Amino acid sequence: MAQTGPLTSVADAHRRARRRLPRPVYFACIGGRGEGNVIRRNMEDLENIVFRSHVGDEPEDLNLETRIMGQHLSMPLLLSPIGAQALRPDAEAQAAHAAQKAGTTFGLSNVASQGLPEVLRANPNTLAQLYWGGPKDEILERVHRYRDQGAAGLIVTLDWSKGPGTDWDPGKIPAKVNLKAMAQFAPAVAPYPTWLLTFLLRGQLPTLHVPQFGTRENPNPTFVEALDAIESTTQPTWQDVAWIKEEFGGPVMAKGIFDPDDARRAIDAGVDAISVSNHGGNTVDEKQSAISALPTVAKAVNGQVDVLMDGGVRRGSDVVKAMALGADAVMLGRAYLWALIARGEVGVSEILQIFKDGIKQSLRTVRVESVHDLGPEHVITPHQPRYWELAPTEYTAPLTS
Ligand SMILES: Cc1cc2nc3c(=O)[nH]c(=O)nc-3n(C[C@H](O)[C@H](O)[C@H](O)COP(=O)(O)O)c2cc1C
Repeated sequence: MAQTGPLTSVADAHRRARRRLPRPVYFACIGGRGEGNVIRRNMEDLENIVFRSHVGDEPEDLNLETRIMGQHLSMPLLLSPIGAQALRPDAEAQAAHAAQKAGTTFGLSNVASQGLPEVLRANPNTLAQLYWGGPKDEILERVHRYRDQGAAGLIVTLDWSKGPGTDWDPGKIPAKVNLKAMAQFAPAVAPYPTWLLTFLLRGQLPTLHVPQFGTRENPNPTFVEALDAIESTTQPTWQDVAWIKEEFGGPVMAKGIFDPDDARRAIDAGVDAISVSNHGGNTVDEKQSAISALPTVAKAVNGQVDVLMDGGVRRGSDVVKAMALGADAVMLGRAYLWALIARGEVGVSEILQIFKDGIKQSLRTVRVESVHDLGPEHVITPHQPRYWELAPTEYTAPLTS
């Protein structure tokens, strides 16, 4: 029987989202490339890190608050940009509002179904995300528009890569939702009436337009038009990143950094934050996991700018593991997407509370009061010897550290 009521975990949200969505829409949310190795690797590498746990002297007052890109956050967690959320009416505004109520912020995708002004009304701290797509004058037009509309910051995604799709058949999504497309799409949609009904009850149809990618010439392009523009554009140089920082004027995050030298180049380009991210496995299937790339990048950054990480984060404990290995905060992708599909704004609020509870439990487990005091000494990674693998003379080291 289908489960109802509040979400109990990300896995629960995922099960419910899957039941709700027509197959091609569900597979568009799964995304991935190749065999989907990066999606799995991101999660597995997080799972394989464990805590150095303690008992006795449990901390009572826990501090989860932090600042990222100049913003105060109630916990070290942000919602990462996710494109084309035609999964519910007002999907982006709902997620942004849930983030605002939880005291955190939201990244609005460059290929979102809603425009920035609507989403800023739901969460005035929303960050706008930028893909490198189309001629430079169009990219600049978008950057100036986000700045003038009041985006609290800009996320420049650097790791998009045109290439082969997935080894499985994700099913086809129409380029436009019109009568012809509806007729073709009907067999896939019919077994999942609630998805479409949510729109019809609002007198709407799911739209595959992406106004955030619009320009004066084409204010409301389709997702397919935007993707074509991104995939036929050479990705930005470091000079381009510096130019965008200057033109935007506010805080800028470079998303998709995986290499310590690239992190240094991003800092030289003037960014305020970097995100260690492999796009949740949606670009190249031969990348290492985000958590395994994090420590060397964080070391290279050495506190000069904020370091974020995303990819595979499904529990509050994952946030604490990433912070122990050098992140200042973590971004959620599919974890909040499943919650949004399953239960709308209320689902995202529930999942954020589940994350908050998980962060607190993890801090108590490692006996740390503040997220700012986390370090590598609080976790055991698969590359570190476990107690029983150490030579007898080394036994005491990990126990006393
Ligand atoms: C369906 C989907 C759409 C995405 N769209 C965007 C996007 O428009 N812009 C972007 O920078 N990242 C995008 N991402 C990547 C996410 O921001 C984030 O890096 C990734 O989801 C993190 O991995 P996780 O889903 O395992 O948490 C997307 C990811 C998914 C799954």
